[in-house]
Amino acid sequence: MAKPRILVIDDEAAIRDSLKMTLEYEGYDYAAAATGQEGLALAEREAPDLVVLDVKMPGMDGLEVLDRLRAINETLPVIVISGHGTIGTAVEATKKGAFDFIEKPFASERVLVSLRNALDQRRLRDENRTLKKAVEIRHQMIGDSGALKQVMAAVGRAAPTNATVLIQGESGVGKELVARTIHRNSLRSRERFVQVNCAAIPEELIESELFGHEKGSFTGATEKQIGKFEQADRGTIFLDEVGDMSPKTQAKVLRVLQEGEVERLGSARTIKVDVRVIAATNKNLEEEIEKGRFREDLYFRLAVIPIHVPPLRDRPEDVPLLVRHYMEYFARENNVRPRRIAPAALEALQRHRWKGNIRELRNTVERLMIMSAGDTIDVADLLEIVRSPQAAGRASGGALAGGELELGKAGTLREFKDTTERSYLVSKLRENGWNISKTAEAIDTPRSNLYKKLEQYQISQETDG
Ligand SMILES: Nc1ncnc2c1ncn2[C@@H]1O[C@H](COP(=O)(O)OP(=O)(O)OP(=O)(O)O)[C@@H](O)[C@H]1O
Ligand SMILES: [Mg+2]
Repeated sequence: MAKPRILVIDDEAAIRDSLKMTLEYEGYDYAAAATGQEGLALAEREAPDLVVLDVKMPGMDGLEVLDRLRAINETLPVIVISGHGTIGTAVEATKKGAFDFIEKPFASERVLVSLRNALDQRRLRDENRTLKKAVEIRHQMIGDSGALKQVMAAVGRAAPTNATVLIQGESGVGKELVARTIHRNSLRSRERFVQVNCAAIPEELIESELFGHEKGSFTGATEKQIGKFEQADRGTIFLDEVGDMSPKTQAKVLRVLQEGEVERLGSARTIKVDVRVIAATNKNLEEEIEKGRFREDLYFRLAVIPIHVPPLRDRPEDVPLLVRHYMEYFARENNVRPRRIAPAALEALQRHRWKGNIRELRNTVERLMIMSAGDTIDVADLLEIVRSPQAAGRASGGALAGGELELGKAGTLREFKDTTERSYLVSKLRENGWNISKTAEAIDTPRSNLYKKLEQYQISQETDG
């Protein structure tokens, strides 16, 4: 970390000198002013991390300087010192937001302690703010298509109520994000959001997961367990993949919804719970009902407010916004340099079918941000990075599968030629273990020409995943 910069504003030279010695000895950067005016000018110019301010000065007095410092920077910590320390001045300085009030004469140790506390507090607050911001950005719903606006409107109407919400949509469209957004904007936002993935929990465990059990209620129940419904009391329970629940579990969940109470396995006692239920599934529940796999009465209980999140291919307008959002996000998150994206590349991404929806788009952008060599992500990068065999191998994880991007249509003939040439060169280089001489020989071109091409297309082994 850089040295914290301390600005001392005091008309007494002796005080400035003694603080200079102490502060510099302790490893702080020191600046000083003998008058309020001079101090304010320095504060604006040098953006100090903390100000030590004398109250009684000729010209502008310390309390007025304090007011003006606040106007420059609301959160700048100020330690006020005064030889004429009346209680009144101390109180007034504190009201104006001074961090501490120290009376002259003071031991330098006293100033140092106060200074460290103030800087620590400020650092913590900054960290908190950064964290909060990061969380907000992570949970932001990006997009301004009509389809997404409808979803947002439904979220807005559902959030403040206690009504049960059923969110349906394909994998990766943002169902969990919608559920969390509803909870965050509800009156229960300070209480817990408890998530249960009904598809991931084995059949024989799901009931004890949801409703809890008493010690010894079945073989293996060595300890008492509090169920998710109880854990979510006063908050929200998110029943994810609700379409994968067995008929038996469905019946039990229906009972909780009807009665508002749960019974731990192995206990005859019922426990009242106040839980808001949000459910989600990528199955078509209407179809599941027809096939006799999902209870219709449970469906109606859950779908008090149904929200359908449409697939990304039905709202291509959102693609550019999402791509830009995740480019910025991953530049920060992965500490890679920011890039631009060529219009042709953006168009190609917009035309893609996005079977894995936003999760696939997100993974794709992350990969592009890490792997692309130039300052601008272009169609060639999509070909190279997104469609490379490694990426296709990861298709299950959501990366674009080979051949899906309709790149032939994108851009000019020149762009197409360049793209193809670059791909060809990279694949030949790989074949020859990135040995330039061998590759040049294999493709029958002078080495100097190959070097020129590598430069032109910014190809290097490091940029090849
Ligand atoms: N509108 C959006 N803006 C920004 N990010 C989004 C948006 N929608 C979804 N995402 C992101 O896409 C990823 C997948 O979203 P989410 O997990 O909510 O999908 P899901 O519908 O629950 O998927 P699955 O059915 O596979 O569980 C998450 O990282 C999420 O933050
Ligand atoms: Mg999900």
